[in-house]
Amino acid sequence: MARIIAVANQKGGVGKTTTCVNLAASLAATQRRVLLVDMDPQGNATTGCGINKMELENSACDVLLGDATAADTIVSAPEGGFAVLPGNEDLTLAEVNLLQEIGRELRLKKALAPVAGLYDFVLIDCPPSINMLTVNALTAADGVLIPMQCEYYALEGLSSLLKTIEQVRDSVNPGLDVFGILRTMYDPRINLSNEVSMQLIEHFDRKVFRTCVPRNVRLAEAPSFGKPALLHDRHSRGAIAYLALAGEILRREDARTKEAV
Ligand SMILES: Nc1ncnc2c1ncn2[C@@H]1O[C@H](COP(=O)(O)OP(=O)(O)OP(=O)(O)O)[C@@H](O)[C@H]1O
Ligand SMILES: [Mg+2]
Repeated sequence: MARIIAVANQKGGVGKTTTCVNLAASLAATQRRVLLVDMDPQGNATTGCGINKMELENSACDVLLGDATAADTIVSAPEGGFAVLPGNEDLTLAEVNLLQEIGRELRLKKALAPVAGLYDFVLIDCPPSINMLTVNALTAADGVLIPMQCEYYALEGLSSLLKTIEQVRDSVNPGLDVFGILRTMYDPRINLSNEVSMQLIEHFDRKVFRTCVPRNVRLAEAPSFGKPALLHDRHSRGAIAYLALAGEILRREDARTKEAV
């Protein structure tokens, strides 16, 4: 069964989408079967994979509203070797319409159930807010990957996200856990980054990924080519960092499976 990971942080611009697209490509490069689900009306993950978000036959909005199945909506990323359940600004409509529905937070979980077995990893890109779309992602997931920049206000934002995770765990998804915290756009020359980083490790210990993603221009420019950085410049520090993250995740998963036996 797939490991379903919501990539979430209500703070904007911390690297959620960059992490989704590049981690999907890196896991796919190690022959893992990956589905990337775009739950953000901005549709950045969709565009970043080289898919035109304005010309979707079906989208994540249709899936949430029950107008299309996941199987009928999933497409292949033109490059990168993984599958995408694309999204666009119609998701805003889905969010509003879901508010009147019973079982509204379970829509994504139910929609993914028939296809999840086809993948080793499902990564869900969340919008920068805690709304019904994010709650759907947290309800469908078994882990939350939290990208964060090591800045002063980051820790404050983190505690409110952790509260939401706890609420979802206590209500609809008892198995939900923090999958890991990823330091993004990391610059070790900045003292504050090191300080925040140390505090993170103090509080969250092994939940903090050892891999840090550096600030790297290739990661920022790759979406304009509709490609993960791995296919734009595989020798770039950004592409290498996400390959390292994939390796770290696979080793962790391996250890977890062995523990469970
Ligand atoms: N490691 C990095 N190095 C350089 N630029 C980066 C890096 N990670 C992300 N960026 C750039 O920073 C911006 C924000 O990143 P991204 O879109 O991944 O964040 P996000 O959390 O998904 O944003 P939003 O909250 O709007 O969805 C983008 O322009 C992206 O290309
Ligand atoms: Mg994003």
